[in-house]
Amino acid sequence: MATEVFDKQKTIDLRKKYIGPSCKVFFNHDPIKIIRARGQYMYSEKDEQYLDCINNVAHVGHSHPEVVSAGTKQMELLNTNSRFLHDNLVHYAQRLQATLPEKLSVCYFVNSGSEANDLALRLAWQHTGHKDIITLDNAYHGHVSSLIDISPYKFHQLGQTEQSQHVHVAPSPDIYRGKFREDHPDPATAYADEVRDIIEKAHAKGHKIAAFIAESLQSCGGQVIPPVGYFQKVAHHVRNVGGVFIADEVQVGFGRVGSHFWAFQLQGDDFVPDIVTMGKPIGNGHPMSCVVTTREVAESFMSSGMEYFNTFGGNPVSCAIGMAVLDVIEKEDLQGNALRVGKYLMELLEKLKEKHPLIGDTRGCGLFVGVDLVKDRLKRTPATAEAQDVIYRLKDQKILLSADGPHRNVLKFKPPMCFSREDADLAVGKIDHILTDLEKALGLCISDAPDLESVPNKRKNSFKEIVHGFQSNSVSNSNTNTRTNKKQRT
Ligand SMILES: Cc1ncc(COP(=O)(O)O)c(C=O)c1O
Repeated sequence: MATEVFDKQKTIDLRKKYIGPSCKVFFNHDPIKIIRARGQYMYSEKDEQYLDCINNVAHVGHSHPEVVSAGTKQMELLNTNSRFLHDNLVHYAQRLQATLPEKLSVCYFVNSGSEANDLALRLAWQHTGHKDIITLDNAYHGHVSSLIDISPYKFHQLGQTEQSQHVHVAPSPDIYRGKFREDHPDPATAYADEVRDIIEKAHAKGHKIAAFIAESLQSCGGQVIPPVGYFQKVAHHVRNVGGVFIADEVQVGFGRVGSHFWAFQLQGDDFVPDIVTMGKPIGNGHPMSCVVTTREVAESFMSSGMEYFNTFGGNPVSCAIGMAVLDVIEKEDLQGNALRVGKYLMELLEKLKEKHPLIGDTRGCGLFVGVDLVKDRLKRTPATAEAQDVIYRLKDQKILLSADGPHRNVLKFKPPMCFSREDADLAVGKIDHILTDLEKALGLCISDAPDLESVPNKRKNSFKEIVHGFQSNSVSNSNTNTRTNKKQRT
């Protein structure tokens, strides 16, 4: 059905003329035009098929017929706002709640991840009566003003002077290139103690903490998997001073991690956030999102006396779509698929790491996987230009992958959840060839790379022990020159 109205160059020209220049395209030097998509595949105006390893929004697969049909049917019947009683709203809330710990029982439906996080901050401020927010370094939580303030990924680009005095940045609990690494005896406690110290310093200046906010796994921050127990310890420190814990599941929720429906559950059954925000995959591309919290927090929000109204949030069409997404995840066992294919993908990548000095670390859970490219295995120097080169070359071979993290050197897999073993074989096979080429050009071979065990002070407790249940490994390597440095965040 989808057809081209303009030829590609005309689309580019019109975009330049009418669309804000800060709205970037993927592959800036040679953008692609996509006119239709199905499952994990996207198709260009020339009907070329691309394997999509980028779109975690098309969670159950692009244009899933059941999701499309649920939306169309409800749109034909009624779409209106939540001030009218409608069963879709309560039915969907009930279904979503069933995926969460009992305590998280009250939903607010909104339209985007940013709206969800902004509302989460309002809930925290109202509930605690405090103002300050602790966020993680390299975090991204959304594009509205309140969230740029708590998103170092963004505000660092504006210069440090832009940081609000009510925002405190804790180190990212990154055990590969963070402050405390896999050789630390207890990185969970060490990183949580950093949060405790921030709280103490803030208190000394008369500030009070309203909330700690973190993605359950940092995505833009470089596919970071926090050590198990970190969230419990942080929650303890934050709740001790009257604050709340906000888990941002906008990227990583809805079964992506395979072993659990929510990524915060990777921390253990003894951890329950006070507020959870959801977005992207929730509507498989339909703009909708949700904040779920405890009855207690919701009552505090109510006590302000102000109504919360959202014109589109929780409308019958969005709720129908949200329910269809949950149905498909269940019917097609997509969480199970994420677990199985994710494990297979990690195995392939680990084999690749044995062969390629450019790979410093592979880490992931389910279909949330990162490949950290390094120029030097010992120093873990980010191979930024090489990562950009890899994603451009992959794109030329019809595989869509992105690179992110503070150094833009982490290849990110976050494909639709119907991603198959064959897709993993194809993508990893192509990466293998590209890395071989790059390393040949750079004069690198695996023997240049020191073995981890020979690194002084390196303990044998691997990431596996620290972030149990995940596969992750680290190595490091020698020098490369940068071929190109295509400055694009994808
Ligand atoms: C972790 C996280 N939170 C929130 C957002 C904001 O979501 P949206 O773009 O739907 O407003 C994003 C978007 O990339 C995100 O990655």
